[in-house]
Amino acid sequence: MGSFDVERIRADFPILALKIGGKPLAYLDNAASSQMPQAVIERLVRYQTTQHANINRGVHYLSETATFEYDEARRKLQRFINVREDREVIFTSGTTEAINLVMHGYGRKFIGAGDEIILTTLEHHSNIVPWQMLAEEKGAKIRVVPINDAGELLIGEYEKLFNERTKFVGVTHVSNALGTINPVKQMIAFAHAHGVPVLVDGAQAAPHMKVDVADLDCDFYAFSGHKLCGPTGIGILYGKAALLERMQPFKGGGDMILSVTFEKTTYNTIPHKFEAGTPPIAAAIGLGAAVDYLSAIGMEAIAAHELDLLNYATAEVNRVPGVRILGTAGKKAAVLSFTVDGVHPHDVGTLLNQEGVAVRTGHHCAQPVMQRFRVPATSRASFAFYNTLAEVDALVAGIRTVQKVFA
Ligand SMILES: Cc1ncc(COP(=O)(O)O)c(C=O)c1O
Repeated sequence: MGSFDVERIRADFPILALKIGGKPLAYLDNAASSQMPQAVIERLVRYQTTQHANINRGVHYLSETATFEYDEARRKLQRFINVREDREVIFTSGTTEAINLVMHGYGRKFIGAGDEIILTTLEHHSNIVPWQMLAEEKGAKIRVVPINDAGELLIGEYEKLFNERTKFVGVTHVSNALGTINPVKQMIAFAHAHGVPVLVDGAQAAPHMKVDVADLDCDFYAFSGHKLCGPTGIGILYGKAALLERMQPFKGGGDMILSVTFEKTTYNTIPHKFEAGTPPIAAAIGLGAAVDYLSAIGMEAIAAHELDLLNYATAEVNRVPGVRILGTAGKKAAVLSFTVDGVHPHDVGTLLNQEGVAVRTGHHCAQPVMQRFRVPATSRASFAFYNTLAEVDALVAGIRTVQKVFA
C-alpha cells in the first residue's frame, strides 16, 4: 500500500485498540460515524481546561480566547473545502440541520406552488424529508433522478427533468448506501445553465476525498463533523454569500440579530444570521482540529488508501459464493453494501459483531435505494483511512462463519 503508514495512523486512535468479546475490533462502520484521533480529543480537553467561555459578547480574556478559537475553526473549515470567504461557512449541528436550514431559509422563501425540486434515488432521508415537508406546505413537486443496476445516476434522465418550473436541485456527492460517487460538477453546471441552484450533501464525501466547492461551483455544501474524525453535534453548511444574504433566518434568538425592539428586529450579517444562540463552541473547535489532522495526512493519500481497501474487499467478497454486492458503480467511495443469501442482514451484523467486526445493517436511511434493489436491508462495511487489509480479511472470514452457522 505504498508509503501510507496505516499502523502509525492507527496508533493515533485509542479506540481502535479495543477488543470486543476478546477479538480485535475491526471498525467498519465509518459511514455512520468515524473515530476520533488523540489530537482531537486533546484539543477538546485543552479548550475545556484553558479556553472555555461564551463567545462574541465578552470582553474578558476567556471569552476573547474562545471567540478567536471558534472563528479560527471556521477559517480551518473554509480552507478545508476551498471556500472563498469565511462568512460563507455556517456552523450547524450536522448535515441534517444544514439541509433543513436551506429548506427553511431558501426553500420557504423562493419555492412556491407548482415549482419543482429535483432529488435523486440515492439521497439519504435527510435530503428527502425536508423537501417533502416543503413540497407539502407549498404545493411544490419532487422529481427523482433514477439509477441503473450498478447504482449510478442516469444523467440523461436528470437532464430531461428540467423545465421552467424547476427551482432547486439536491444531490448527494457520495451515496451512503452504495458508495457511488456522483458526477456533481457536471450536474451543477447543467442546473446552472437553467438558472437553478444546487445543494450537495457532502456527508459521505468530505471525509474521504478532496472537496473543492469553488471548483464544483455548488451553491450549498453540507457535511457532519462526526463522520470526519470530529465531535458529534457539529457540521457545516457552505453557502454562496449572495444566496445566504437573500435567505431568511432558520432559527431566531441571540447573536443572529443586530437590534431587537418589539416593533422590529434587524438580522445580523452572515454567518451570524444563521447561528442563533450559543453554538457548540467546543465541538466547532474540535472539528477544526479534525480537519487539521486529516489535512496533515492529505485527503489524496486518504482517498488512495481507501480505494485500495475497497478494491481488495470487493475482490475478496466476490469470491464468496452466495454473497451479492449492491452498488457496483465505476466510481465508488469505500462503502461495501452486501446481502448474504438466506440470512437476514440483522443476523449477519450480529454474528459479525461476535467476530469483532462492526458493520451496519438496515436500510441506512436510504429506503428508496433499498426499494430500487428490492431488498429490505443490506449489511454495509464502510472503510476509513485507518482500516487495514487484515480487517477486510476479518470481515470476509466473518461472512464465511455466518454462512456456516446458517448452512
Ligand atoms: C449521505 C448522508 N447525508 C446525510 C446524513 C445525515 O448526517 P447527520 O445524521 O450527521 O446529520 C448522512 C448520515 O448518515 C449521510 O450518510
